[in-house]
Amino acid sequence: MSASSSSAGVGEAMLQVRQLTARFTTRDETVQAVRGVSFDIVAGEAVGFVGESGCGKSVTARALMRLAPEGSSVEWGGSVRFQGHDLLRLPEAAMQDLRGRRIAMVFQDPMSSLNPVLSVGRQIDDMIRRHTGASAREARRRTVDLLGLVGIRDPQRRVDDHPHQFSGGMRQRVMIAMAVSCEPDLLIADEPTTALDVTVQAQILRLLVRLRAELGMALMLITHDFGVIAGMVDRVHVMYGGEIVERGRVDDLFAAPAHPYTRALLDAVPRLAPQEGAGA
Ligand SMILES: Nc1ncnc2c1ncn2[C@@H]1O[C@H](COP(=O)(O)OP(=O)(O)O)[C@@H](O)[C@H]1O
Ligand SMILES: [Mg+2]
Repeated sequence: MSASSSSAGVGEAMLQVRQLTARFTTRDETVQAVRGVSFDIVAGEAVGFVGESGCGKSVTARALMRLAPEGSSVEWGGSVRFQGHDLLRLPEAAMQDLRGRRIAMVFQDPMSSLNPVLSVGRQIDDMIRRHTGASAREARRRTVDLLGLVGIRDPQRRVDDHPHQFSGGMRQRVMIAMAVSCEPDLLIADEPTTALDVTVQAQILRLLVRLRAELGMALMLITHDFGVIAGMVDRVHVMYGGEIVERGRVDDLFAAPAHPYTRALLDAVPRLAPQEGAGA
């Protein structure tokens, strides 16, 4: 399970995405959702992807797990190299083993990704057992630890509760516990706080920051809100119309956005705008 067992060369980024494209074919049209996107993620780093709804953030993220959106068929192009494997060409069995174990994902709406009829503990246990071969007893012990790790009080008791017995924020914590249960090398968080109210958003973001440090994983944080990115990631990619139109260190982008679209996104975050002298 150690990262050193990967075949990636020294100094090579853990993830290398090159000229990624995604095309959907529906009954009456073809949609080019991602148009040649290239980026790297180094082991352990936090990177952001920002852009308005529909610009291709989720489809890009899903490419890293080779998951087509629900009920659609998508044609991928380009390459996604992860720890020496080409994920767009990996046999499905190998991809299934990697999904959740090496790369895991947290989605915007925890309710739609949790099974309403199973206790949350059972769902996390299943994930651990599927990927690690742990015994039922060992998986349960780890599940309780994980629920504690993500800040659920009294995990020993809550482990047998069902998703509807948790608030939205607590459900998102459960999803995060499940996502990190196999200690992935890359956690993709796709608008993880969009459905939550502002105070809960901040708590979930702090949790992600803490887990990244404690578990030593890389984090790909996706949002339409620049305010979410600040203080969370080192580098950010701005997407527009299926392309990355600007990238750089967060501070640099805040100080001097080059692309007009980046400027527009920053203007939408008044609370983070630099203090300007009144009347200046
Ligand atoms: N299931 C689908 N079928 C057809 N087109 C889709 C589907 N999902 C996404 N798209 C197309 O891909 C584009 C990017 O979607 P997405 O990555 O979900 O955007 P976002 O940046 O909001 O996450 C959309 O604007 C849409 O045109
Ligand atoms: Mg999305």
